[in-house]
Order: sequence, then structure tokens, then C-alpha cells
Amino acid sequence: MTSTAPVKVRIRGLRKRFSVKGRPIEALDGIDVDVEAGAFLCIVGPSGCGKTTLLRILAGLEEKTAGTIEVARDAAGKDARERPVNAMVFQEQSIFPWMTVRDNVAFGLKARGFSRRDRYAIVEPFIRRANLGGFEDALPHQLSGGMKQRVSITRAFANDPEMLLMDEPFAALDEQTKLILQAELLRIWEESRKTVLYVTHSIDEAIVLADRILVMTARPGRVKDVVDVASVFGRPRRVEAVKESAQYGELFGRVWGALREEVMGAQAAEAVS
Ligand SMILES: Nc1ncnc2c1ncn2[C@@H]1O[C@H](COP(=O)(O)OP(=O)(O)O)[C@@H](O)[C@H]1O
Ligand SMILES: [Mg+2]
Repeated sequence: MTSTAPVKVRIRGLRKRFSVKGRPIEALDGIDVDVEAGAFLCIVGPSGCGKTTLLRILAGLEEKTAGTIEVARDAAGKDARERPVNAMVFQEQSIFPWMTVRDNVAFGLKARGFSRRDRYAIVEPFIRRANLGGFEDALPHQLSGGMKQRVSITRAFANDPEMLLMDEPFAALDEQTKLILQAELLRIWEESRKTVLYVTHSIDEAIVLADRILVMTARPGRVKDVVDVASVFGRPRRVEAVKESAQYGELFGRVWGALREEVMGAQAAEAVS
């Protein structure tokens, strides 16, 4: 995103050290990043570099060791807090098996105190837009993996969070289903323009979805590169058009170039340890 938008999240010097059986594990080693309001930031990096940890810290599920996080409350980027009032992290299989599709989508609203009537009224258009119409009373076991993820995404948007934190939501899906859900996610996001931090191990997915791609180093995680996608591919964006274009290959090469060094380095370190 060519940044005229105010910064929604400002992260400076963020560090996280875990302790495992008395031994320190440096997970994050000084992350600096700004995420503009309404931007879609994808995060890629070698396995174990701290991507999930970063999202969990932002969501308040994990304490940071050092550094600062400022989340702006209003559109002008003012009145910052440590963490968003209401963020949503979701991963594979985060829906409740005993609840219907409607109740799963409405779950966040229930937690926020909306009456059943209001909840159902609010989620109805979201369910329709996500092509889940007709499945409101179905239980998760009656749905395909792709539809379950669709329920999960629909819940996230219906809850109207301040920002969305997504951790490899499509990682377990087959290629065709993934293509369809990526297109749907783009469409829903383009309507809402929520600020999104989206972790993926797929470079391809990052290019299709992101305004910017943050490439992390192998553990301890630092920022290796930030790749601007928004100035190459505008909005609204069509998945097919992105993949067919010549610039897609260039972007892929740049992200993979940065990532490959880190993945190879991590594997070499593993081999000698
Ligand atoms: N609760 C924890 N206790 C100890 N170590 C952890 C914990 N959570 C994550 N780690 C370690 O921190 C590093 C980063 O983990 P994670 O954020 O899950 O990486 P990623 O999501 O990038 O694969 C890994 O080495 C992992 O083993
Ligand atoms: Mg992870």
C-alpha cells in the first residue's frame, strides 16, 4: 500500500524469549513493522521463525519479552493501545463441532452480549455472501473442509473485529478449494477493508492476497524483507489475473529469493545441531 493511510499497528523492537526446561529459546528478535489501516499484510517465513508467536502476542494470548506495540484506536491513527480490542485468530478446525453453522458464525457476537435475535439478524447477510445459504442449520461434520473454513472466515468478519489475525487458515485444504476460498476472502475483505495480518507458508497465496509481504528470517525471527505487492496489483483483485501476469513471476522470485536463504540456513543449522 502506498502509504497515505494512517498506521493501525506499529511494532517496534518486538522480542519474545521462551524458556524450555530452563533453556532460553529466542523466538522473535526485534521485529519492526508498521501496518496501515485497512491493509492486508501477509507474513511468510521458515517454519519455527515465530509467525504464530507474533500473532498470539498481538491477540494478547502471549506476553512479549521486550519492545512496543501500538494499536491505533481511531481512523486518524490516534489514541494507541497495546493490543486490539477485538481481534480474531483462526486456524484450521476452529469451529465448534456441536454448533450449527449459524451458531458458529454468531459465536463471537454471543460472547459480546448480543441477543439471539440480533445475532441471527446480523449473521444472515454474512452467511449469504459466503455462499453458505441453505446450510444454516447444518453441523460441521456435514460440511466439507472448505465449507468449514468458510464458516470460520464468515464468523471472523461477522464479529466485526478491529483487525483480523489469520494463521495459515487454508493450509490444510486442497488446491482447488483453496483457489475458491482465496477469491472469496478477497471479495469479503474488499468490502470490509479490515486490517489483516495473515500468516501463510504459501508464497503464491501471499502474492494473491497481500498489499505487502513481510518475509521473516529463520529463528530467531527478524524482518528479512518487505515486498510491496499493492503497487503491482491493485484492488479489486482477481486471483486468475494475478497468476497470469508477468509481474507475478517477478514477485515470486523476489519473495522466494529472500525466503530460500533462510530456509536453507535453518536446515543447515538443524543438520549440525
Ligand atoms: N509456548 C511455547 N513454549 C516454548 N517454546 C515455544 C512456545 N511456542 C513457540 N515456541 C517456540 O518458538 C519458536 C517459534 O514458534 P512459532 O511461533 O510457532 O513458529 P511458526 O509459527 O513460525 O512456525 C519455535 O522454536 C517454537 O518451538
Ligand atoms: Mg505457526
